[in-house]
Amino acid sequence: MESRKPLIAGTWKMHKTCPEAVETARVLAGMTTDVEGADIMIAPPFPALAPVAEALAGSRIGLGSQNLHWEKQGAYTGEVSADMLVSAGCSYVIIGHSERRHIFGETDESVNKKTRAALAAQLTPVLCVGETESERDAGKTFSILDKQVQKGLNNVNLDAASPLIVAYEPVWAIGTGRTATADQAEEAHAHIRRLLAQQLGRNMADTVRILYGGSVKPENIAELMARDDIDGALVGGASLDADTFSRLIHY
Ligand code: PGA
Repeated sequence: MESRKPLIAGTWKMHKTCPEAVETARVLAGMTTDVEGADIMIAPPFPALAPVAEALAGSRIGLGSQNLHWEKQGAYTGEVSADMLVSAGCSYVIIGHSERRHIFGETDESVNKKTRAALAAQLTPVLCVGETESERDAGKTFSILDKQVQKGLNNVNLDAASPLIVAYEPVWAIGTGRTATADQAEEAHAHIRRLLAQQLGRNMADTVRILYGGSVKPENIAELMARDDIDGALVGGASLDADTFSRLIHY
């Protein structure tokens, strides 16, 4: 069986000023010097990326962005390119988070452009997919995942040097305190891996880390991580406090 190193990723969404972000990053770096069995990533808001990169120098924590634009540069007021993120110290970028899809109108097409731009700049995309509550209730979970994975990865060419991460985040579990059960998550992850095998080939699909996101807490992470196709977590609320996030990383 393949061995995929777990990734525990935190996204701070629109929380923390620069000094607050730097302080949390510094404390977290100090609390995670012993972590060897998992990769760690934090994704602060844009203004904090460069100062947090400095605070993380020499630590075990990688830096991620919460979004990017697919063009390299130009008259795109308010947008940030992949090369800019790399120059600020990022090695990961979260793409297609459900808040971006539902609040800011991102589509599978823009998600696909962003994924290709990230890979071209050697940023590891964390491609987020997941169904809403009404889609789950209507029995559409798998068909939604089919569409989001297939369109999101349309014409994406991966090789060993261009890693991809997928995050399964059921929308009904994000910020609600209602975590998917380990059975529900594993069923969705296994389905996503089958889709990846169809689209990218079995060997590549086996290397892709699939994270679970949605109300992950120190109390429920071990049960989730015990499942074969759950290779890590994307954590919102419980990543804001260094102590809580460190407990979660040390699950
Ligand atoms: P949550 O957010 O952990 O606060 O539910 C997860 C996410 O949005 O990625």
